[in-house]
Amino acid sequence: MPDLNLELQELVAEMEARRANVVAGGGPDRAKKQHEGGKMTARERIEHLLDSGSWLEFSTFTEHGGGPLMRGVEAPGEGVVTGRGTINGRQVFVFSQDFTVLGGSLGKMNAQKVTKIMDLAAKTGCPVIGLNDSAGARIQEGVDSLSGYGEIFYRNAIYSGAIPQISAILGPCAGGAVYSPALTDFVLMSEGTSYMFITGPEVIKSVTREDVTFDELGGAHVHTRRSGVAHLAGQGDEDTLRLVRSLLAYLPQNAKEKPPTRPTSDPVDRATPELLDVVVPDQRKPYAMHDVIESLVDDATFFEIQPHFARNILVGFAHLGGKVVGIVANNPKFMAGTLNIDASDKAARFIRTCDCFNIPILTLVDVTGFLPGVAQEHAGIIRHGAKMLYAYAEATVPKVTLITRKSYGGAYLAMNSRDMGADVVYAWPTAAVAVMGAEGAANIVYRREIQKSDNPAATRAEKIKQYKDTFDNPYVAAAKGYIDDVIAIEDTRRVLIQTFEMLEHKDEARPYKKHGNIPL
Ligand code: HXC
Repeated sequence: MPDLNLELQELVAEMEARRANVVAGGGPDRAKKQHEGGKMTARERIEHLLDSGSWLEFSTFTEHGGGPLMRGVEAPGEGVVTGRGTINGRQVFVFSQDFTVLGGSLGKMNAQKVTKIMDLAAKTGCPVIGLNDSAGARIQEGVDSLSGYGEIFYRNAIYSGAIPQISAILGPCAGGAVYSPALTDFVLMSEGTSYMFITGPEVIKSVTREDVTFDELGGAHVHTRRSGVAHLAGQGDEDTLRLVRSLLAYLPQNAKEKPPTRPTSDPVDRATPELLDVVVPDQRKPYAMHDVIESLVDDATFFEIQPHFARNILVGFAHLGGKVVGIVANNPKFMAGTLNIDASDKAARFIRTCDCFNIPILTLVDVTGFLPGVAQEHAGIIRHGAKMLYAYAEATVPKVTLITRKSYGGAYLAMNSRDMGADVVYAWPTAAVAVMGAEGAANIVYRREIQKSDNPAATRAEKIKQYKDTFDNPYVAAAKGYIDDVIAIEDTRRVLIQTFEMLEHKDEARPYKKHGNIPL
């Protein structure tokens, strides 16, 4: 009779030995290299991201997909750690690429591990978080690795808008390793240790003869400021993972739910007299829209998205009376808050993200128009500006607009005017709604009179005043119903919270379609 207990012990020991081998990944030397490079290992990242004790791992014993070039190659855990855990008690699914195993490269079975948890996330209605640190398609596996990427991209696309997908870029990510993050809702990078590019410096050098470093080509600085590929950057892994946790607090679990509420002791009816000193009537005096936002929202907490890209428009999340709102606001401090191509793209994307995830939108308007210029016209400001118009009109979440100062021309429409679908439009007494500023308008409309005048300067000044008196105020628009009310600056927080409360159960249908055709 064999000793059953001994047999069981051997089986358990084998399982533990196999698991330990997987947990060791590419071994202590490569783990040391990660640490020396200022990075955590794949498993350390999971520990930092999730609530302690919440991790359940899957596909631990998956092996690589074989092929002639993979004979004799070991890939413990297949270069990626996958499973589920919780963040502030809410379930999330996570894959964490293990750079110590074949550079975190993606083979067929590595992709299968990732797609399994993506499918589970979709079925259970939970966010997916990807911790990316990968050299891209595993060269030895050829078309199988390309197919693996295809399966992930496909799911990124079909689950888009159904569940939140967040990508943290925590190492060099090349080729396919950047397109999956690009298909997700938010991309966060780690300053100094992460890079994103389709082809690296060596390939670029051989093709275009350009000399460029990793950082100059695709570091966090580039992608959060110039390309707009990344939404946020942290200082190292720990800070970036902290940002992921913070971001998640503004998102629902899935498209059928609302974001979680956050209790606050900040009174709903708190007056905001400090704004009287911020927004002065002189249209030429810029002010910080950040100050306006922080005065109005709960606990002065604004979680800004893409803070360094297209700074002429601000987007981000905050709470009003404990409930999440997405904020889109012109920033008069930068390029006078005009709308250009990057600002239009940034706002349109954010509006659609809010609409996917049942986040009401507050739009704060102080804008003179779209940015004039040959470069903008030739680069397609018409096509890009149209995205903003489209995104606002398409969105069915509650939409409230507040005109703080000027709102002119096409930008008046692009910033969610009543006709573009705003549910309620407010204006401050400092607001002015017109086709353009008084100076420009007088020059065009009264050009002949000014030219013919004995004193052109005086006539011009008189015409400007006349135009200003007529249009540079909120009352013409309010008289025609384009503005629902002109409100006291210091009472705005209360009014906004009550308005969003009124709209809480808004239900707006759209005509049947497969999907709309947003200009791209
Ligand atoms: C398999 C790879 C690999 C790859 C690196 N490794 N890239 N293994 N497939 N694509 C292995 C290395 O052999 C090494 O193994 C380990 O990973 C670490 O790589 P190093 O080069 O030593 O690291 P480092 O110096 O930090 O450089 C990282 C890197 C570089 C910048 C990412 O490895 C690199 O440029 N790799 C190639 C990137 C690339 O071209 N990928 C294919 C993209 S095409 P050992 O055993 O020594 O630890 C693609 C197609 C999909 O993705 C497109 C879909 C649209």
